[in-house]
Amino acid sequence: MQIVSTSPFADQRPGTSGLRKRTPVFQQPHYLENFVQALLEEAALPADATLVVGGDGRFLNREAIVTIIRMAAGNGIGHVVVGRGGLLSTPAASHLIRQGAAGGIILSASHNPGGPDGDFGIKYNTANGGPAPESYTNAVAARAAALTSYRIAELPAFDLDVQGTVELPGITIDVVDPVEAYASLMESLFDFDAIRKLFASGFRMRMDSMHAITGPYAVEILERRLGAAAGTVINAVPLPDFGGGHPDPNLTYAHELVEEMFGAQALDFGAASDGDGDRNMILGQRFFVTPSDSLAVMAANATLVPGYRAGLAGVARSMPTSAAVDTVATALGIPCFETPTGWKFFGNLLDAGRITLCGEESFGTGSNHVREKDGLWAVLFWLNIVAARGESVEQIVRAHWATYGRNYYTRYDYEAVPSDAANGVMALLRDRLSSLPGSVLTGRTVQAADDFSYTDPIDGSVSAKQGIRVLFTDGARIVYRLSGTGTEGATIRVYIESKETASDRLGMETAEALRDLVAAALELAEIVERTGREAPTVIT
Ligand code: G6P
Ligand code: ZN
Repeated sequence: MQIVSTSPFADQRPGTSGLRKRTPVFQQPHYLENFVQALLEEAALPADATLVVGGDGRFLNREAIVTIIRMAAGNGIGHVVVGRGGLLSTPAASHLIRQGAAGGIILSASHNPGGPDGDFGIKYNTANGGPAPESYTNAVAARAAALTSYRIAELPAFDLDVQGTVELPGITIDVVDPVEAYASLMESLFDFDAIRKLFASGFRMRMDSMHAITGPYAVEILERRLGAAAGTVINAVPLPDFGGGHPDPNLTYAHELVEEMFGAQALDFGAASDGDGDRNMILGQRFFVTPSDSLAVMAANATLVPGYRAGLAGVARSMPTSAAVDTVATALGIPCFETPTGWKFFGNLLDAGRITLCGEESFGTGSNHVREKDGLWAVLFWLNIVAARGESVEQIVRAHWATYGRNYYTRYDYEAVPSDAANGVMALLRDRLSSLPGSVLTGRTVQAADDFSYTDPIDGSVSAKQGIRVLFTDGARIVYRLSGTGTEGATIRVYIESKETASDRLGMETAEALRDLVAAALELAEIVERTGREAPTVIT
């Protein structure tokens, strides 16, 4: 074991989802090692503990995993479980951790592009399988800022591509099939027979794995176990640079899928997932399901799915996510929690059994089966609902709106804005908060306005300043926050929502339904003046 002297880097503070930086930042000598040392010291795992390690296969994944295993040995950890080839989707890693490990290190920058000019990332998940809480990540940042050395073992060469157990001095490495345990978990939750029958009856689907981690998972589950046609999964081979693409499953970046699903030859069902497999997008034939609606539909139909037949203890959504699921929760008579953005905020509620399903507007949905959002799980949930109801995706969503009303919803993103300008927008809004209630915007009266603060109902911890909310008396909302996952400058997100229940107002185009509210939202925050941007970078 070697103790290597080092000096701290000024920027090792984890954000919404771990430490995420441009790849060259991670390639600086000692950069990864410093952070891993801080992370392992804070985790303080006992010698007999098991650590799960895996990543989404992006550029640097393999080298980083070898370094982490050597550092685990150097820090006295006796057992590591690693996905074959260093691969593990984020939800599959969560599941493996929950099978008895003390924690896990996941390498990914999620939906951000990979490669030498792309992004890389690392995060720590605790024994419950979920992202470590802020108290932990803050402590890691403090340790990293004061680090003077790290510990790394010289290990004989080991092969990550061969499944099996390798005994090395001081550490045992189990190289496991990345898919098997996860696929079994999915079989235990969903009605595979019904979905198999659906495919056998000619139902046609396309799954775009975007050259990212879910390829091997989707081929095994959809094509091999459920009998979907060979070739159902496209871009199925994970590549270090995701084939040069941007592995984010939305209408902008999943363009190959979108072209097919909105074209003349559209299939019955389309889906995509992101770099590390935790996000999802669901499409029907020429029909887009917003992530917020997806969560609401899942909640309303959960008892059609074997794993959720007993009903839901409760649901949760992040604050900027539309309130569509709230309406379902009210109808079901179950609690609905509103948490800050970041999957980690669902962890305590899931662990305490207070919620069963949860989701976010950022294309994430999940349940108590793991402690991460789960892209393929959401796809299977939808397939199970379609099979059980015998209706198309569009029919299911329209029926949902007819029952619960429709939450028109859009998000405007302004990426890579200079930090000063972005902070100026937020400061202006904070200044205006107290004068907003009672004022009228686009004919709507502001009922309340605040900077969202969350008190965790389980451990009482408080997370303040989580985004500006402007709430209207008719249920409409405008939300502003700065992204916690960007790697360049600041990203301003503006979320706009309005609720319609009148039956003749359920079929409008979203842009049309929200036009006035969007204009008012941009004006209120002086977005154009302060950022110089006439238009957002992305609209979702
Ligand atoms: C990641 C997190 C999510 C979060 C999303 C957007 O995917 O896991 O919980 O909603 O990033 O975060 P941001 O701070 O960029 O809006
Ligand atoms: Zn992701």
